[in-house]
Amino acid sequence: MDCTALSLRRVAERVTLEAAEYLRDLPRPDVVAVSTKSSPTDVVSAADTAVEALLRHRLAELCPGDAVVGEEDGGAADTDTIWLVDPIDGTVNYVHGLPWYAVSVGAVRCGVPVAGAVAEPVSGRLWSAAVGAGATCDGRPLRVSAISDVALSVLGTGFSYRSQRRVGQARLVAALLPRVGDVRRTGSAALDMCSVAAGWLDAYLEHGTNWWDWAAAAVIAREAGAVVRVPGPPGAQPPDEEARTYSSSDIAGLGADAVFAAAPGIAADLAALARACGAAAV
Ligand code: IPD
Ligand code: CA
Repeated sequence: MDCTALSLRRVAERVTLEAAEYLRDLPRPDVVAVSTKSSPTDVVSAADTAVEALLRHRLAELCPGDAVVGEEDGGAADTDTIWLVDPIDGTVNYVHGLPWYAVSVGAVRCGVPVAGAVAEPVSGRLWSAAVGAGATCDGRPLRVSAISDVALSVLGTGFSYRSQRRVGQARLVAALLPRVGDVRRTGSAALDMCSVAAGWLDAYLEHGTNWWDWAAAAVIAREAGAVVRVPGPPGAQPPDEEARTYSSSDIAGLGADAVFAAAPGIAADLAALARACGAAAV
């Protein structure tokens, strides 16, 4: 077991819980008054900025010297341990009053996520994991589903804020939908991967997300037994594909910026299906 990863997990748990409590007490913004970022649908609220500032402040206190890269304020990935922070994953849900959103903090070493935590302000759930130490939700061990038939599987996915990218994503979903059990678009990549860890979803596949969306949840899914593939890290020398597919080469070829997590009983078949449906061209 990696003791460093364990202590990084404790830090991630502590700061995400604090941030989730803080976020819960902030007034929800008026949906028509929020600003936008990369596109008119990519909203950012004052809460996103305030929660990220709190996370940066607490990480600087607890882990001085570690780089922090965040969704709202960016940052350089120039230290051995990098913290990837998403103050609100599921911002669109948050501003619309849907309760499915979370604070996510992941620790990355040598380009690979090694520990992290995801805290939900509304339900109070805390998801966390460290490499080699398992994944838990509120202290209970997580395990992926035992499904073995892709045709019965429930697949989570998501869509870019850029409309052009959505065209390719819609094409892929249209091709997959008749061949899987069902598809969910919940609005939070982090919670989609936690849901794979819990066996609530059988798999998750999305293109074009950012490291802060899933750095924590990728460890949670992997430690719960999922077969996981993530893109190369921001600004650093990417580890090879094998290091990022963690446990199986059968899931390569899904596209450079694809994030994939699946129960082992369907991972290879689902990846093959997604390739056949054009995943690499999304
Ligand atoms: C978004 C969510 C969503 C995913 C998008 C992400 P945000 O993050 O994770 O589920 O489909 O790709 O950008 O904007 O809510 O932090
Ligand atoms: Ca996000």
